[in-house]
This record gives sequence, structure tokens and C-alpha cells, in this order.
Amino acid sequence: MTLLECRGVTKAFGSLVALKEVDLALEEGETLGIIGPNGAGKSTLFNAIAGLLPLTAGDVHYRGRRISGLPTHAVCRLGIAKTFQIPQLFPRLTVLENVMIGALYGGGEGLGKARGAAADWLGFVGLADRGGLPAATLTVSERRRLDLARVLATGATVLLLDENMAGLTQKEMEAALTLLRAVRERGKSLVVIEHVMRAIVGIADRVLVLNYGEKIAEGHPHEVMQDPTVIKAYLGEAYA
Ligand SMILES: Nc1ncnc2c1ncn2[C@@H]1O[C@H](COP(=O)(O)OP(=O)(O)O)[C@@H](O)[C@H]1O
Ligand SMILES: [Mg+2]
Repeated sequence: MTLLECRGVTKAFGSLVALKEVDLALEEGETLGIIGPNGAGKSTLFNAIAGLLPLTAGDVHYRGRRISGLPTHAVCRLGIAKTFQIPQLFPRLTVLENVMIGALYGGGEGLGKARGAAADWLGFVGLADRGGLPAATLTVSERRRLDLARVLATGATVLLLDENMAGLTQKEMEAALTLLRAVRERGKSLVVIEHVMRAIVGIADRVLVLNYGEKIAEGHPHEVMQDPTVIKAYLGEAYA
């Protein structure tokens, strides 16, 4: 079953067209990777799906229902949650409170239930012993895991992860990939933006490549990375 579908999604910022008629489909249980050079429109696509930006043209559907035009909290409650390229944590709140906010935002349940769900997801991402600390005290890799716990706590089925592995060491990245595989086993469907090709190959079933707001390739990770159009977009004409 197709969970998420973008049809002809176009977003202009004044004269800059950040997304041009992008089509995307995410099947249940699938992990879709999104790659592309800086400024390609990747984060804009996530913002458009999550209801943070009004579209210029096109529309977004979730489980067959049109969601474009809905506010972001409504999109989240239907089942789509995103992380930000730079984690938007509440630095002075505790790690546990940050995750509770995710639970409250996604479900609107009472505080007690939110606290329980938050503690469960903190354990899941390996931060059980950090719950009482201010979020500002976490390391980069711990912040990434906290960010993941927050979107998981919303209860969403589709998670949009914007460079959740950026800035990690090789070892931390391997741990992050293992964690994302565990997330998938919890029945989540993922769309992941990543720069590190190893990360994409390690997690994505399919990859979509954006360049200057346009989809220039889509397919199996290994195929896409050998596509001359893709190589040219990344490295320039000489390499293609
Ligand atoms: N809110 C905004 N207002 C104006 N321009 C924006 C805004 N958000 C993104 N852009 C522009 O849209 C283009 C795509 O940006 P972005 O989606 O962040 O790229 P990526 O995530 O692929 O690096 C860039 O040229 C960027 O400067
Ligand atoms: Mg980005």
C-alpha cells in the first residue's frame, strides 16, 4: 500500500524554484533515501510534506487522503513526523521532557501517558540514563538519537529524517544504521535525507536524487550511484 505520495510538488520562493514538479511514492514498510547536492531542495521537500510550507503547485497524499494545506500538527497526528536538519531541541528542558513534547504533540494524551511513552522511546534509542539531564548537555550523536526518540514518540508511521546521521563518526554511524533498522522493525516507513552514501546504501530500499529542485534519478541505490546524470550533478561534467 502506498502511504505517502507527492504529485507534481512545486515550491517557489519568489523567483527561486526550489522544487519543480516532484513526484514521490513511499510504500508501507519501505525506506526511501533522498540525496542531492546542497541546495537541491531536499529539506524543502520535507517541509512541504510536513505542512510547514504552502505548496506553489501539486499536492501531497497520505493513505489516499490529500494532506497538502493541512497545518503541521494535523499532518503529524495523521501519521507523518519529521526531524530538522539542525535538531530543534529545547536545550534547558530535560531529555525526557523533550521526548514528552513529541508524545504530546503527536497524540494529545495526558502527561502520565506521555511520560511513559517518552521513557520507553528513550530506552529504545539508548538514552535511558540521560533522561534527567538538560538536552543541552548531550553530545552530537546523543542529540541525533534524542531527535529520533522525539519523532518516534509522536506515534507517527512515516518518519522524515533530515540528515539524522550528519556529523557522526564512522562508528556512531554504524550504530545509527542499526538503530534505524530497529525502527523499521517497529513498523515505521522512512524517508531519509543523507549525504553519506554509505549510510544511504546501508538503509535505503530505493533512492531518489534531486538536483536544482528536479528529480533527476530514482531507483536502487547501487544503480542510481552509477547513473552518469547523478555523477555529473555531484562531481561535474569531467567525471561523468
Ligand atoms: N524559506 C526559504 N526562503 C527562501 N529560500 C529558501 C527557503 N528555504 C530554502 N530556500 C532555498 O531553496 C533552495 C533549496 O534549499 P533546501 O531545501 O534547504 O536544500 P537542501 O536541503 O537540498 O540542501 C536553496 O536555494 C535555498 O536557499
Ligand atoms: Mg537540507
